[in-house]
Amino acid sequence: MKNIKTYLEDVGTEEALVKIFESLTEAVKKISVAVRTANTGKVGTMNSYGEEQVALDVFSNNIMIEELKKNSMVGLIASEELPDEEKIGDGEFALAFDPLDGSSLVDVNFSVGTIVGVYKTKSFIGVKGDDQLAAMAAVYGPRTTIFITVKKGVARFMLNEEGEFMLEKDNIEIGEGKYFAPGNLRACADRPAYLELVNYWIKEKYTLRYSGGMVPDINHILSKGSGIFAYPGHKDELDGKLRLLFECAPMSLIMEQAGGASSDGKIRILEKILLKLEQRTPIFIGSKEEVARCKDTLK
Ligand code: AHG
Ligand code: MN
Ligand code: MN
Repeated sequence: MKNIKTYLEDVGTEEALVKIFESLTEAVKKISVAVRTANTGKVGTMNSYGEEQVALDVFSNNIMIEELKKNSMVGLIASEELPDEEKIGDGEFALAFDPLDGSSLVDVNFSVGTIVGVYKTKSFIGVKGDDQLAAMAAVYGPRTTIFITVKKGVARFMLNEEGEFMLEKDNIEIGEGKYFAPGNLRACADRPAYLELVNYWIKEKYTLRYSGGMVPDINHILSKGSGIFAYPGHKDELDGKLRLLFECAPMSLIMEQAGGASSDGKIRILEKILLKLEQRTPIFIGSKEEVARCKDTLK
């Protein structure tokens, strides 16, 4: 049984990046404890998206920053819970993260996650997802698991009793299969093409796997090896809700590294240039044929 460090060394990861993952896994361990035990109340502040922050958003964000500040390899950070990018050290690595995706689901005891994209850059403005050197998505469910990629495929790890992340599966491969996670179904009201797409999945007897959290929903695709997650835009929110830098780019790198696809309906998510930190994008991510179907039906 391999731990995450051994895995990273075995696939030939540069030492500095191994150290980055040491900090990230420390943060994930602490967030997983916080998610299980901490107060979930509203803190009365808004993030840059006008979304009310819950105590756990702020707490998870602080855990991430605290861990990353201890790491001399880190220079720049950007977070869904911070208004601007921030230089926190002199290292060459730059990390963009959503410390707690789906925080409003903690109260009802649904799964939530942490998403991280790793770059080497002096500013995130102008980067594209393809510039990422690595990505991570952690799921806090009955178990704490993480998917990571250092652009040498994708591996899944589980946090064990001793507080170590042990390899469960590497070389994860996405094929074709009938699971669908249709986000933003409200869009059906003004986009008949999306209703048509959803009807196709229903008529073709796909299995619905939708939790309301992007990380667990995509985690399902990566764990079962097939499926589609969609979050289109609609009349009032043309680009949907999900953020390119903090959510879509890292998840797309993981999906493509596993042989799946990810598109905004026109181009690969990973080719989209970041013009502002809070940029949103529609997303269709999962099995290649399903992503192609989304593009065809919605064009
Ligand atoms: P946040 O980081 O603000 O908690 O975002 C959660 C996201 C994502 O996980 C999920 O797919 C989406 O919000 C669901 O949003 P709606 O229920 O509003 O469509
Ligand atoms: Mn989020
Ligand atoms: Mn969040």
